[in-house]
Amino acid sequence: MANLLVTGGAGFIGSNFVHHVVAHTDHHVTVLDALTYAGNRASLDGLPDDRVRLIVGNITDAPLVDELFAGADAVIHYAAESHNDNSLHNPRPFLDTNIVGTYTLLEAARRHDTRLHHISTDEVYGDLELDDPERFTEQTPYNPSSPYSSTKAGSDLLVRAWVRSFGVRATISNCSNNYGPYQHIEKFIPRQITNVIRGVRPRLYGAGENVRDWIHADDHSSAVLTILERGEIGETYLIGADGERNNKDVVELILSLMGQPTDAYDHVTDRAGHDLRYAIDSTKLRTELGWLPSYGDFETGLAATIDWYRENEEWWAPAKDATEAFYAAKGQ
Ligand code: NAD
Ligand code: DAU
Repeated sequence: MANLLVTGGAGFIGSNFVHHVVAHTDHHVTVLDALTYAGNRASLDGLPDDRVRLIVGNITDAPLVDELFAGADAVIHYAAESHNDNSLHNPRPFLDTNIVGTYTLLEAARRHDTRLHHISTDEVYGDLELDDPERFTEQTPYNPSSPYSSTKAGSDLLVRAWVRSFGVRATISNCSNNYGPYQHIEKFIPRQITNVIRGVRPRLYGAGENVRDWIHADDHSSAVLTILERGEIGETYLIGADGERNNKDVVELILSLMGQPTDAYDHVTDRAGHDLRYAIDSTKLRTELGWLPSYGDFETGLAATIDWYRENEEWWAPAKDATEAFYAAKGQ
């Protein structure tokens, strides 16, 4: 049994990880989360008080971070500004949280010699052509496109430097696009599901040919636990579940699963600098650490996700109007 500190544990993937840890281990979890617009304490509802506690605070608050590291056996760092569209509108919070926040945690890890796992994204590698037979591997050079992905790339490089220069015991994982419960409705899949629930047509950026490599958030969690338990210090692991689909196919599948005509969506203004395709080769994680995804079938996982948004309207409804007003102002 260990005491885990999970930054960003009230966000989408962090809260899925906390639920996964409670269900599959006997670890205790302290969540450190600033509860920004993207954090929601309700995402931790139903978890046992004697296993999980939430500390509302900022990862750039060095004294608080120091105090929490003192009681942690390992830290899993999910906290971030995570949305590309927001980073195009106002990049500053991305620099503060993703760069300075990660630096603050690294300094605490160095002081306390704490095991740290840093959560990152496949977007640090830039994008691929649609017909490129290659996928991203741990050897792909960094080439981020957006303010969001460039700050995530910067944070990864800080982690690597603190491992090499100061002997910090850290690992890094770069995962592809997640879907599942508790995802903020600004993101593609829950935005379209909640639009359809509200009787609004889904919105596809540009032609919708962009490809994302979808993985269920629970599979991301099992991969992170595997790396925490068996990963080699200083190593990077790519996480993916062979889930490539273009956005048009995803919107049409959502419409079909929700009983709507599959052409009942609108094309809207494209994202500036929109990455074309992401694709992950997760051979290293599978062969060296023996990890495998459990959600083989995207359609089944998506249907369960649609059910979750139908059954949990009180979780997402408070954010819907403001989210759509932000997009409407940009013609999206
Ligand atoms: P999210 O936006 O849903 O959640 C982020 C959480 O971090 C929120 O709870 C927020 O309140 C908290 N937070 C933000 N700034 C903070 C700060 N300064 N101090 C403390 N807490 C703060 O994000 P997500 O989609 O769950 O992503 C989590 C992590 O996974 C991020 O590091 C992201 O880069 C990475 N990632 C996401 C995906 C994806 O598909 N969403 C894929 C790969 C990697
Ligand atoms: O690849 C991992 C990344 O996946 C993570 O690092 C990010 O934190 C996460 O937000 C996600 O980034 P994307 O930009 O790929 O996700 P998003 O949900 O914003 O968009 C997915 C695709 O859908 C993308 O090609 C843009 C498109 N899109 C998005 C929205 C919100 C639309 O066509 N319409 C929309 O309304």
